[in-house]
Amino acid sequence: MSTGKKLFVEDLDVAGKRVIVRVDFNVPLKDGKVESDKRLKESLPTIEYLRKKNAKVILMSHLGRPDGKRVADMSLRPVADALSALLGAPVAFAEDCVGPAAEKAVSAVAPGGVLLLENLRFHAAEEENDPAFAKQLAALADVYVNDAFGSAHRAHASTEGITKFVPQAASGFLMKKELDYLGDALGNPKRPFVAVIGGSKVSGKIDVIKNLLPRVDKLLIGGGMTYTFLKAQGLEIGKSIVENDKIDLAKRLLAEAGGKLELGTDFVVTDKLDFKGRTVGATKVVARNAIPADWEACDIGPATVEAFTKILLGAKTIVWNGPVGVFEIDATAKGTIAVAEALAKATAAGATTIIGGGDSASAVKKAGVASKVSHVSTGGGASLEFLEGKVLPGVAALTNK
Ligand code: 3PG
Repeated sequence: MSTGKKLFVEDLDVAGKRVIVRVDFNVPLKDGKVESDKRLKESLPTIEYLRKKNAKVILMSHLGRPDGKRVADMSLRPVADALSALLGAPVAFAEDCVGPAAEKAVSAVAPGGVLLLENLRFHAAEEENDPAFAKQLAALADVYVNDAFGSAHRAHASTEGITKFVPQAASGFLMKKELDYLGDALGNPKRPFVAVIGGSKVSGKIDVIKNLLPRVDKLLIGGGMTYTFLKAQGLEIGKSIVENDKIDLAKRLLAEAGGKLELGTDFVVTDKLDFKGRTVGATKVVARNAIPADWEACDIGPATVEAFTKILLGAKTIVWNGPVGVFEIDATAKGTIAVAEALAKATAAGATTIIGGGDSASAVKKAGVASKVSHVSTGGGASLEFLEGKVLPGVAALTNK
């Protein structure tokens, strides 16, 4: 799925018009302030483009999961302030996203001005994709743009329903960038194409593995799901995390993959893992066939790091989703940090490197290489569903060129 065939904001006549933009400003807040402004920064190209074109910019987003109720600490007001600082221009705020408060605020926006509407999810109708609510949102503007890649996997009123009540629905710059990177990787990758898939459970990544296997040259497996695969190969995995009901599936995936699937050859094991307390007991490195019965594996070992790095440095396209160890604890984050560093090196050598959002995005940040990879997705769930080969409703609803 690429935006190539979809209408883009630059295809529209927006001068002097009221343009409503669905953004994903679902950002972490701490003590009433925006803690990470990545999603705000990534939305600037669309907002700045529209301002330059003298459009009246009306932004709408959800924040958290307030379940259709007004929840004070899920208000988007602090986000308006943070956005205003980034833009170096005022951002007006409307106390509601529909009704008189929204209508009054919209009528006060001057050409080139910016308004942020209050949290869409203060209305249950947003997640219910209620047509009457979608129509109310549409009535606030002349033009609709969707730049919320992070919410594109949700068929909600502001991402899908609204498109039935506007003449045209176009992607913004961020939506286009996300879909171009992910779409090219899946549809037209420069080879070798290598994917690194981590995370704790096979069950959460089955569809990604199935969708990627026929497309990639190598698929490196890391994280907790490794041990279900090792058990499927008949190895002792000690107390390592395992999904016993997925062992047959792991066997089938191993058979289907031929030589494409790479599991680690050595692991860091510990006699005690306290995830909540973020500590581990004693640790040691063991070969894949020597995991002690009462220890658990928590990271890839140095030989695996070396082998994975070699494969990654030979790649021309890399997609990474999911940490290869318990990266939240420093003692067991080395493998994940090493993968992040390998991706940065591969990027410097000319590869296109794409980080699916969520934990892998946190990992490249922790490794200090977020600016040294080609693309860090702003979507967690959305990029996962994209990699699974699913149609994202927010993208499908955009107008075809
Ligand atoms: C995200 O942060 O992944 C998106 O904003 C979607 O949020 P949701 O999972 O609450 O729909």
